[in-house]
Amino acid sequence: MEHSDALVFFGATGDLAFKQIFPALQGMVRDGQLDVPVIGIGRSGWNVDQLRDRARASLDAHGGVDEPVFAKLTALLQYVDGDYADAATFTRLKQALGSAVRPLHYLAIPPSAFALVAKGLAAAGCATHARIVVEKPFGRNLESARELGATLHDVFPESAIFRIDHYLGKEAVQNLLYFRFANAFLEPVWNRNYVERVQITMSENFGVQGRGRFYEEVGAIRDVLQNHLLQIVSLLAMEPPVGHDPDAMRDAKAQAFKAMRPLDHAFVVRGQFNGYRAEEGVAPDSNVETFVAVKLELDSWRWAGVPFYIRAGKSLATTATEVLVELKYPPQPVFEDVRFAAPNHFRFQLSPHVLLELGARAKRAGESFAGEDVHLIACHEDGHDVPPYQRLLGDAMRGDQTLFAREDSVEDAWRVVDPILGGGTPLYPYEPGSWGPAEADAIVAGGVWRNPSGN
Ligand code: BG6
Repeated sequence: MEHSDALVFFGATGDLAFKQIFPALQGMVRDGQLDVPVIGIGRSGWNVDQLRDRARASLDAHGGVDEPVFAKLTALLQYVDGDYADAATFTRLKQALGSAVRPLHYLAIPPSAFALVAKGLAAAGCATHARIVVEKPFGRNLESARELGATLHDVFPESAIFRIDHYLGKEAVQNLLYFRFANAFLEPVWNRNYVERVQITMSENFGVQGRGRFYEEVGAIRDVLQNHLLQIVSLLAMEPPVGHDPDAMRDAKAQAFKAMRPLDHAFVVRGQFNGYRAEEGVAPDSNVETFVAVKLELDSWRWAGVPFYIRAGKSLATTATEVLVELKYPPQPVFEDVRFAAPNHFRFQLSPHVLLELGARAKRAGESFAGEDVHLIACHEDGHDVPPYQRLLGDAMRGDQTLFAREDSVEDAWRVVDPILGGGTPLYPYEPGSWGPAEADAIVAGGVWRNPSGN
Protein backbone atom coordinates (compact mmCIF):
# COMPACT_ATOMS: atom_id res chain seq x y z
CA MET A 1 0.00 0.00 0.00
CA GLU A 2 1.35 3.36 -0.96
CA HIS A 3 1.48 6.23 1.45
CA SER A 4 -0.74 9.22 0.74
CA ASP A 5 1.36 12.10 -0.51
CA ALA A 6 -0.85 14.98 0.70
CA LEU A 7 -3.39 15.45 3.48
CA VAL A 8 -6.39 17.61 2.64
CA PHE A 9 -8.99 18.42 5.25
CA PHE A 10 -12.32 20.03 4.48
CA GLY A 11 -13.95 21.96 7.30
CA ALA A 12 -10.57 23.39 8.34
CA THR A 13 -12.15 26.34 10.12
CA GLY A 14 -14.70 24.17 11.94
CA ASP A 15 -15.16 22.55 15.31
CA LEU A 16 -13.79 19.08 14.59
CA ALA A 17 -10.60 20.51 13.12
CA PHE A 18 -10.20 22.68 16.21
CA LYS A 19 -10.80 19.90 18.72
CA GLN A 20 -9.23 16.90 17.03
CA ILE A 21 -7.48 17.45 13.73
CA PHE A 22 -4.84 20.05 14.63
CA PRO A 23 -3.76 18.12 17.74
CA ALA A 24 -3.58 14.95 15.62
CA LEU A 25 -1.51 16.72 12.96
CA GLN A 26 0.96 18.07 15.50
CA GLY A 27 1.30 14.58 16.99
CA MET A 28 1.87 13.07 13.55
CA VAL A 29 4.60 15.59 12.72
CA ARG A 30 6.23 14.99 16.12
CA ASP A 31 6.21 11.23 15.59
CA GLY A 32 7.64 11.52 12.09
CA GLN A 33 4.40 10.40 10.40
CA LEU A 34 3.69 13.54 8.43
CA ASP A 35 5.99 15.36 6.04
CA VAL A 36 3.73 15.95 3.05
CA PRO A 37 1.64 19.00 2.10
CA VAL A 38 -1.27 19.61 4.51
CA ILE A 39 -4.08 21.60 2.92
CA GLY A 40 -7.00 22.96 4.91
CA ILE A 41 -10.14 23.94 3.03
CA GLY A 42 -12.87 26.12 4.44
CA ARG A 43 -15.60 28.55 3.55
CA SER A 44 -14.82 31.29 6.04
CA GLY A 45 -12.97 33.71 3.73
CA TRP A 46 -9.70 33.12 5.61
CA ASN A 47 -6.08 33.11 4.51
CA VAL A 48 -3.30 30.75 5.58
CA ASP A 49 -2.16 33.02 8.42
CA GLN A 50 -5.60 32.87 9.95
CA LEU A 51 -5.54 29.10 9.66
CA ARG A 52 -2.16 29.00 11.40
CA ASP A 53 -3.54 31.19 14.20
CA ARG A 54 -6.46 28.84 14.49
CA ALA A 55 -4.12 25.85 14.65
CA ARG A 56 -2.16 27.51 17.45
CA ALA A 57 -5.36 28.31 19.37
CA SER A 58 -6.50 24.72 18.91
CA LEU A 59 -3.26 23.36 20.33
CA ASP A 60 -3.28 25.85 23.19
CA ALA A 61 -6.67 24.44 24.14
CA HIS A 62 -5.85 20.79 23.45
CA GLY A 63 -2.55 19.52 24.72
CA GLY A 64 -0.24 22.50 24.14
CA VAL A 65 1.93 23.87 21.34
CA ASP A 66 5.25 22.10 20.80
CA GLU A 67 7.07 25.04 19.15
CA PRO A 68 9.65 23.25 16.97
CA VAL A 69 7.05 20.71 15.85
CA PHE A 70 4.48 23.42 15.30
CA ALA A 71 6.95 25.30 13.08
CA LYS A 72 7.31 22.18 10.94
CA LEU A 73 3.56 21.75 10.77
CA THR A 74 2.92 25.35 9.73
CA ALA A 75 5.58 25.01 7.01
CA LEU A 76 3.52 22.15 5.56
CA LEU A 77 0.19 23.96 5.97
CA GLN A 78 -1.68 25.62 3.12
CA TYR A 79 -5.19 27.00 2.98
CA VAL A 80 -7.75 26.99 0.17
CA ASP A 81 -10.87 29.05 0.62
CA GLY A 82 -14.07 28.62 -1.32
CA ASP A 83 -17.56 27.29 -1.60
CA TYR A 84 -17.89 23.53 -2.06
CA ALA A 85 -20.45 24.14 -4.83
CA ASP A 86 -17.94 26.18 -6.82
CA ALA A 87 -15.71 24.31 -9.27
CA ALA A 88 -13.03 27.00 -8.85
CA THR A 89 -12.49 25.84 -5.24
CA PHE A 90 -11.39 22.44 -6.49
CA THR A 91 -9.27 23.96 -9.25
CA ARG A 92 -7.39 25.88 -6.54
CA LEU A 93 -7.06 22.67 -4.53
CA LYS A 94 -5.61 20.91 -7.57
CA GLN A 95 -3.02 23.70 -7.87
CA ALA A 96 -2.21 23.54 -4.17
CA LEU A 97 -1.66 19.78 -4.47
CA GLY A 98 1.16 20.46 -6.91
CA SER A 99 2.93 17.21 -7.72
CA ALA A 100 0.97 15.14 -5.17
CA VAL A 101 -0.91 12.34 -6.93
CA ARG A 102 -2.30 10.26 -4.03
CA PRO A 103 -3.99 12.74 -1.69
CA LEU A 104 -6.03 11.81 1.33
CA HIS A 105 -9.18 13.93 1.68
CA TYR A 106 -10.67 14.18 5.14
CA LEU A 107 -14.28 15.41 5.11
CA ALA A 108 -14.65 17.06 8.51
CA ILE A 109 -17.93 18.55 7.31
CA PRO A 110 -21.64 17.67 7.65
CA PRO A 111 -22.67 14.60 5.62
CA SER A 112 -25.09 16.79 3.66
CA ALA A 113 -22.03 18.28 1.90
CA PHE A 114 -20.36 14.93 1.10
CA ALA A 115 -21.93 14.53 -2.35
CA LEU A 116 -20.97 18.05 -3.40
CA VAL A 117 -17.37 17.61 -2.31
CA ALA A 118 -17.00 14.14 -3.81
CA LYS A 119 -18.26 15.39 -7.16
CA GLY A 120 -16.09 18.52 -6.99
CA LEU A 121 -13.02 16.39 -6.30
CA ALA A 122 -13.80 14.06 -9.20
CA ALA A 123 -14.44 16.88 -11.66
CA ALA A 124 -11.15 18.57 -10.81
CA GLY A 125 -9.17 15.34 -11.10
CA CYS A 126 -8.41 15.23 -7.36
CA ALA A 127 -10.15 11.90 -6.71
CA THR A 128 -8.01 9.56 -8.80
CA HIS A 129 -5.79 7.39 -6.56
CA ALA A 130 -7.11 9.39 -3.61
CA ARG A 131 -8.39 8.19 -0.23
CA ILE A 132 -11.33 9.70 1.55
CA VAL A 133 -11.95 9.86 5.30
CA VAL A 134 -15.45 10.47 6.66
CA GLU A 135 -16.83 10.88 10.17
CA LYS A 136 -19.91 9.50 11.83
CA PRO A 137 -22.87 9.88 11.64
CA PHE A 138 -22.90 7.60 8.61
CA GLY A 139 -26.58 8.24 7.92
CA ARG A 140 -29.59 8.51 10.25
CA ASN A 141 -31.01 5.05 9.61
CA LEU A 142 -30.44 2.10 7.33
CA GLU A 143 -31.96 3.77 4.29
CA SER A 144 -29.99 7.01 4.54
CA ALA A 145 -26.80 5.07 5.31
CA ARG A 146 -27.26 3.20 2.03
CA GLU A 147 -27.79 6.46 0.18
CA LEU A 148 -24.68 7.94 1.74
CA GLY A 149 -22.69 4.84 0.80
CA ALA A 150 -23.91 5.07 -2.79
CA THR A 151 -22.98 8.77 -2.93
CA LEU A 152 -19.42 8.04 -1.88
CA HIS A 153 -19.18 5.02 -4.16
CA ASP A 154 -20.12 7.16 -7.15
CA VAL A 155 -16.58 8.50 -6.88
CA PHE A 156 -14.54 6.27 -4.53
CA PRO A 157 -14.23 2.48 -4.29
CA GLU A 158 -14.75 0.96 -0.82
CA SER A 159 -11.01 0.30 -0.61
CA ALA A 160 -10.44 4.08 -0.66
CA ILE A 161 -13.08 4.96 1.96
CA PHE A 162 -12.07 5.29 5.62
CA ARG A 163 -14.99 5.70 8.04
CA ILE A 164 -13.78 6.95 11.39
CA ASP A 165 -15.27 5.53 14.55
CA HIS A 166 -12.85 7.05 17.03
CA TYR A 167 -13.52 4.23 19.53
CA LEU A 168 -11.60 1.89 17.25
CA GLY A 169 -8.61 4.22 17.54
CA LYS A 170 -8.57 3.96 21.33
CA GLU A 171 -5.75 2.10 22.98
CA ALA A 172 -8.14 0.37 25.37
CA VAL A 173 -10.35 -0.94 22.59
CA GLN A 174 -7.34 -2.33 20.76
CA ASN A 175 -6.22 -3.86 24.02
CA LEU A 176 -9.50 -5.72 24.27
CA LEU A 177 -9.02 -7.10 20.79
CA TYR A 178 -5.43 -8.05 21.57
CA PHE A 179 -6.33 -9.74 24.84
CA ARG A 180 -8.91 -11.89 23.09
CA PHE A 181 -6.60 -13.25 20.43
CA ALA A 182 -3.20 -13.11 22.09
CA ASN A 183 -4.19 -15.56 24.83
CA ALA A 184 -5.03 -19.21 24.39
CA PHE A 185 -6.74 -19.62 27.77
CA LEU A 186 -9.67 -17.43 26.83
CA GLU A 187 -10.97 -19.24 23.78
CA PRO A 188 -12.32 -22.36 25.56
CA VAL A 189 -14.57 -20.27 27.82
CA TRP A 190 -15.43 -17.49 25.38
CA ASN A 191 -18.81 -18.83 24.36
CA ARG A 192 -22.33 -19.72 25.43
CA ASN A 193 -21.12 -22.73 27.44
CA TYR A 194 -19.30 -20.57 29.97
CA VAL A 195 -20.46 -16.99 29.52
CA GLU A 196 -23.67 -16.14 31.37
CA ARG A 197 -24.04 -12.56 30.18
CA VAL A 198 -22.16 -9.53 28.95
CA GLN A 199 -22.74 -6.00 30.17
CA ILE A 200 -21.43 -2.85 28.55
CA THR A 201 -21.84 0.53 30.18
CA MET A 202 -20.80 3.86 28.74
CA SER A 203 -21.57 6.50 31.31
CA GLU A 204 -20.74 10.21 31.14
CA ASN A 205 -21.16 12.50 34.11
CA PHE A 206 -21.75 15.54 31.90
CA GLY A 207 -24.71 16.62 29.79
CA VAL A 208 -24.76 17.71 26.17
CA GLN A 209 -22.21 20.49 26.74
CA GLY A 210 -23.78 23.16 24.56
CA ARG A 211 -24.38 20.67 21.74
CA GLY A 212 -28.14 20.61 22.33
CA ARG A 213 -29.04 21.37 18.73
CA PHE A 214 -26.83 18.54 17.43
CA TYR A 215 -27.99 16.15 20.12
CA GLU A 216 -31.66 16.76 19.31
CA GLU A 217 -30.93 15.31 15.87
CA VAL A 218 -29.34 12.14 17.20
CA GLY A 219 -30.04 11.04 20.79
CA ALA A 220 -28.08 8.35 22.56
CA ILE A 221 -29.06 5.54 20.16
CA ARG A 222 -27.62 7.25 17.09
CA ASP A 223 -24.86 9.08 18.94
CA VAL A 224 -23.07 6.17 20.57
CA LEU A 225 -25.05 2.88 20.51
CA GLN A 226 -25.23 2.36 16.74
CA ASN A 227 -21.53 3.01 16.35
CA HIS A 228 -19.11 2.94 19.30
CA LEU A 229 -20.93 0.38 21.42
CA LEU A 230 -21.92 -2.03 18.67
CA GLN A 231 -18.34 -1.86 17.42
CA ILE A 232 -17.23 -2.99 20.88
CA VAL A 233 -19.76 -5.84 20.76
CA SER A 234 -18.38 -6.92 17.40
CA LEU A 235 -14.84 -7.11 18.84
CA LEU A 236 -16.06 -9.14 21.80
CA ALA A 237 -18.21 -11.46 19.74
CA MET A 238 -16.22 -11.98 16.53
CA GLU A 239 -14.60 -15.25 15.54
CA PRO A 240 -10.81 -15.30 15.22
CA PRO A 241 -9.89 -13.69 11.90
CA VAL A 242 -8.86 -16.11 9.19
CA GLY A 243 -5.96 -15.32 6.87
CA HIS A 244 -3.71 -12.33 6.77
CA ASP A 245 -5.16 -10.16 4.07
CA PRO A 246 -5.90 -6.61 5.17
CA ASP A 247 -9.63 -7.27 5.40
CA ALA A 248 -9.40 -10.43 7.53
CA MET A 249 -10.24 -8.58 10.73
CA ARG A 250 -13.08 -6.63 9.19
CA ASP A 251 -14.50 -9.80 7.59
CA ALA A 252 -14.64 -11.46 11.02
CA LYS A 253 -16.25 -8.39 12.56
CA ALA A 254 -18.79 -8.24 9.73
CA GLN A 255 -19.90 -11.78 10.60
CA ALA A 256 -20.47 -10.72 14.19
CA PHE A 257 -22.54 -7.74 13.01
CA LYS A 258 -24.58 -10.08 10.82
CA ALA A 259 -25.35 -12.25 13.84
CA MET A 260 -26.81 -9.32 15.80
CA ARG A 261 -30.57 -9.54 16.05
CA PRO A 262 -32.59 -6.33 15.47
CA LEU A 263 -33.45 -4.75 18.81
CA ASP A 264 -36.83 -5.48 20.27
CA HIS A 265 -39.00 -2.72 21.82
CA ALA A 266 -39.66 -4.99 24.80
CA PHE A 267 -35.98 -4.82 25.77
CA VAL A 268 -35.29 -1.14 25.24
CA VAL A 269 -35.49 1.56 27.89
CA ARG A 270 -34.97 5.18 26.93
CA GLY A 271 -34.39 7.93 29.47
CA GLN A 272 -33.90 11.68 29.54
CA PHE A 273 -32.15 13.56 32.33
CA ASN A 274 -34.10 16.23 34.14
CA GLY A 275 -32.90 19.57 32.86
CA TYR A 276 -32.16 18.44 29.30
CA ARG A 277 -35.19 20.29 27.92
CA ALA A 278 -33.85 23.57 29.31
CA GLU A 279 -30.60 23.23 27.30
CA GLU A 280 -30.06 25.65 24.46
CA GLY A 281 -31.24 24.24 21.15
CA VAL A 282 -33.42 21.59 22.81
CA ALA A 283 -37.19 21.51 22.25
CA PRO A 284 -39.19 22.17 25.45
CA ASP A 285 -41.13 18.96 24.80
CA SER A 286 -38.19 16.98 23.41
CA ASN A 287 -38.68 13.22 23.12
CA VAL A 288 -34.97 12.62 22.49
CA GLU A 289 -33.22 10.10 24.75
CA THR A 290 -30.07 10.98 26.65
CA PHE A 291 -29.96 7.44 28.06
CA VAL A 292 -30.61 4.09 26.48
CA ALA A 293 -30.43 0.54 27.78
CA VAL A 294 -30.99 -2.49 25.58
CA LYS A 295 -30.72 -6.24 25.51
CA LEU A 296 -28.99 -7.43 22.36
CA GLU A 297 -28.91 -11.04 21.20
CA LEU A 298 -26.64 -12.69 18.69
CA ASP A 299 -27.77 -15.54 16.53
CA SER A 300 -24.59 -17.56 16.28
CA TRP A 301 -23.39 -20.90 17.62
CA ARG A 302 -20.95 -19.13 19.89
CA TRP A 303 -23.41 -16.69 21.45
CA ALA A 304 -26.91 -18.14 21.12
CA GLY A 305 -28.84 -17.36 24.31
CA VAL A 306 -26.19 -15.10 25.85
CA PRO A 307 -27.65 -11.64 26.51
CA PHE A 308 -25.53 -8.57 25.80
CA TYR A 309 -26.87 -5.79 27.99
CA ILE A 310 -25.77 -2.36 26.81
CA ARG A 311 -26.47 1.05 28.28
CA ALA A 312 -25.20 4.54 27.63
CA GLY A 313 -26.14 7.88 29.06
CA LYS A 314 -25.33 11.51 29.65
CA SER A 315 -25.41 13.11 33.12
CA LEU A 316 -24.92 9.80 34.90
CA ALA A 317 -23.06 9.12 38.13
CA THR A 318 -19.56 8.90 36.68
CA THR A 319 -17.55 8.96 33.47
CA ALA A 320 -16.43 5.47 32.57
CA THR A 321 -16.83 2.89 29.84
CA GLU A 322 -16.64 -0.70 30.85
CA VAL A 323 -17.29 -4.21 29.58
CA LEU A 324 -18.13 -6.95 32.04
CA VAL A 325 -18.23 -10.57 30.89
CA GLU A 326 -19.78 -12.74 33.61
CA LEU A 327 -19.19 -16.47 33.56
CA LYS A 328 -21.56 -19.18 34.69
CA TYR A 329 -21.33 -20.65 38.18
CA PRO A 330 -19.53 -23.97 38.59
CA PRO A 331 -22.01 -26.70 37.68
CA GLN A 332 -22.13 -28.26 41.11
CA PRO A 333 -21.47 -26.30 44.32
CA VAL A 334 -18.69 -28.11 46.17
CA PHE A 335 -18.36 -25.19 48.58
CA GLU A 336 -21.59 -23.70 49.84
CA ASP A 337 -20.51 -20.06 49.93
CA VAL A 338 -19.84 -19.98 46.17
CA ARG A 339 -23.58 -20.18 45.60
CA PHE A 340 -23.96 -16.66 47.04
CA ALA A 341 -20.78 -15.13 45.69
CA ALA A 342 -20.39 -13.06 42.52
CA PRO A 343 -19.67 -15.19 39.46
CA ASN A 344 -16.21 -15.17 37.86
CA HIS A 345 -15.82 -12.33 35.46
CA PHE A 346 -13.59 -10.51 33.03
CA ARG A 347 -13.78 -6.75 33.31
CA PHE A 348 -12.38 -4.47 30.64
CA GLN A 349 -12.38 -0.85 31.61
CA LEU A 350 -11.95 1.22 28.46
CA SER A 351 -11.99 4.59 30.20
CA PRO A 352 -10.95 6.46 32.28
CA HIS A 353 -8.22 3.81 32.69
CA VAL A 354 -7.14 0.91 30.58
CA LEU A 355 -7.78 -2.00 32.86
CA LEU A 356 -8.21 -5.76 32.56
CA GLU A 357 -9.50 -7.68 35.51
CA LEU A 358 -10.23 -11.31 36.18
CA GLY A 359 -12.59 -11.76 39.09
CA ALA A 360 -12.32 -15.14 40.84
CA ARG A 361 -12.79 -16.83 44.21
CA ALA A 362 -9.99 -17.82 46.56
CA LYS A 363 -10.10 -19.48 49.95
CA ARG A 364 -9.76 -17.31 53.01
CA ALA A 365 -7.14 -18.53 55.51
CA GLY A 366 -8.72 -20.58 58.25
CA GLU A 367 -10.30 -23.91 59.00
CA SER A 368 -13.48 -23.59 57.02
CA PHE A 369 -13.83 -23.75 53.28
CA ALA A 370 -14.98 -20.18 52.97
CA GLY A 371 -13.66 -17.85 50.34
CA GLU A 372 -13.53 -14.31 49.13
CA ASP A 373 -13.57 -12.46 45.83
CA VAL A 374 -10.13 -11.76 44.43
CA HIS A 375 -9.27 -9.57 41.49
CA LEU A 376 -6.31 -10.17 39.24
CA ILE A 377 -5.70 -6.83 37.64
CA ALA A 378 -3.60 -5.61 34.74
CA CYS A 379 -3.78 -1.88 34.39
CA HIS A 380 -2.09 0.98 32.69
CA GLU A 381 -2.80 4.67 32.68
CA ASP A 382 -3.70 6.38 29.45
CA GLY A 383 -0.90 8.96 29.77
CA HIS A 384 1.33 7.94 26.85
CA ASP A 385 -1.27 6.76 24.42
CA VAL A 386 -1.43 7.97 20.88
CA PRO A 387 -4.74 9.87 20.71
CA PRO A 388 -7.37 8.08 18.55
CA TYR A 389 -7.46 10.70 15.80
CA GLN A 390 -3.72 10.64 15.39
CA ARG A 391 -3.68 6.87 15.28
CA LEU A 392 -6.49 6.69 12.76
CA LEU A 393 -5.27 9.47 10.49
CA GLY A 394 -1.83 7.86 10.46
CA ASP A 395 -3.39 4.51 9.50
CA ALA A 396 -5.45 6.14 6.75
CA MET A 397 -2.38 7.85 5.31
CA ARG A 398 -0.71 4.42 5.16
CA GLY A 399 -3.84 2.90 3.64
CA ASP A 400 -4.52 0.51 6.53
CA GLN A 401 -8.29 0.05 6.88
CA THR A 402 -8.25 -2.41 9.78
CA LEU A 403 -9.50 0.09 12.37
CA PHE A 404 -12.13 1.72 10.17
CA ALA A 405 -15.81 0.85 9.91
CA ARG A 406 -16.70 -0.96 6.70
CA GLU A 407 -19.89 -0.28 4.78
CA ASP A 408 -21.53 -3.68 5.36
CA SER A 409 -20.98 -3.46 9.13
CA VAL A 410 -22.26 0.10 9.30
CA GLU A 411 -25.41 -0.98 7.50
CA ASP A 412 -25.83 -4.01 9.75
CA ALA A 413 -25.50 -1.77 12.80
CA TRP A 414 -28.33 0.37 11.44
CA ARG A 415 -30.37 -2.77 10.80
CA VAL A 416 -29.96 -3.60 14.50
CA VAL A 417 -31.10 -0.22 15.83
CA ASP A 418 -33.61 0.67 13.09
CA PRO A 419 -36.63 -0.82 14.94
CA ILE A 420 -36.05 1.40 17.98
CA LEU A 421 -35.41 4.70 16.18
CA GLY A 422 -38.16 7.29 15.98
CA GLY A 423 -39.00 7.47 19.66
CA GLY A 424 -41.63 4.73 19.65
CA THR A 425 -40.80 3.53 23.16
CA PRO A 426 -41.57 5.35 26.44
CA LEU A 427 -39.12 7.95 27.67
CA TYR A 428 -38.41 7.90 31.42
CA PRO A 429 -36.97 10.88 33.29
CA TYR A 430 -33.92 10.46 35.53
CA GLU A 431 -31.96 12.62 37.89
CA PRO A 432 -28.56 13.91 36.81
CA GLY A 433 -25.89 12.05 38.76
CA SER A 434 -27.93 8.84 38.97
CA TRP A 435 -27.53 5.61 36.98
CA GLY A 436 -30.48 6.43 34.73
CA PRO A 437 -34.13 5.46 35.09
CA ALA A 438 -34.91 2.54 37.39
CA GLU A 439 -36.99 1.02 34.57
CA ALA A 440 -33.69 -0.05 32.96
CA ASP A 441 -33.29 -2.70 35.68
CA ALA A 442 -36.19 -4.65 34.26
CA ILE A 443 -34.20 -5.42 31.11
CA VAL A 444 -31.53 -7.39 32.93
CA ALA A 445 -32.48 -10.88 34.00
CA GLY A 446 -31.92 -10.81 37.76
CA GLY A 447 -32.23 -7.01 37.66
CA VAL A 448 -28.62 -6.12 38.35
CA TRP A 449 -26.56 -3.72 36.30
CA ARG A 450 -22.96 -3.65 37.45
CA ASN A 451 -21.87 -0.05 37.71
CA PRO A 452 -18.37 0.83 36.58
CA SER A 453 -16.11 2.71 38.91
CA GLY A 454 -15.11 6.05 37.45
CA ASN A 455 -12.58 8.70 38.21
C1 BG6 B 1 -18.89 10.97 20.48
C2 BG6 B 1 -20.28 11.40 20.87
O1 BG6 B 1 -18.93 10.21 19.31
O2 BG6 B 1 -18.31 10.22 21.52
C3 BG6 B 1 -20.27 12.15 22.19
O3 BG6 B 1 -20.83 12.22 19.85
C4 BG6 B 1 -19.55 11.35 23.24
O4 BG6 B 1 -21.60 12.45 22.61
C5 BG6 B 1 -18.18 10.92 22.73
O5 BG6 B 1 -19.42 12.16 24.40
C6 BG6 B 1 -17.48 10.03 23.72
O6 BG6 B 1 -16.16 9.83 23.31
P1 BG6 B 1 -15.00 9.60 24.37
O7 BG6 B 1 -13.80 9.33 23.53
O8 BG6 B 1 -14.90 10.86 25.17
O9 BG6 B 1 -15.42 8.44 25.22
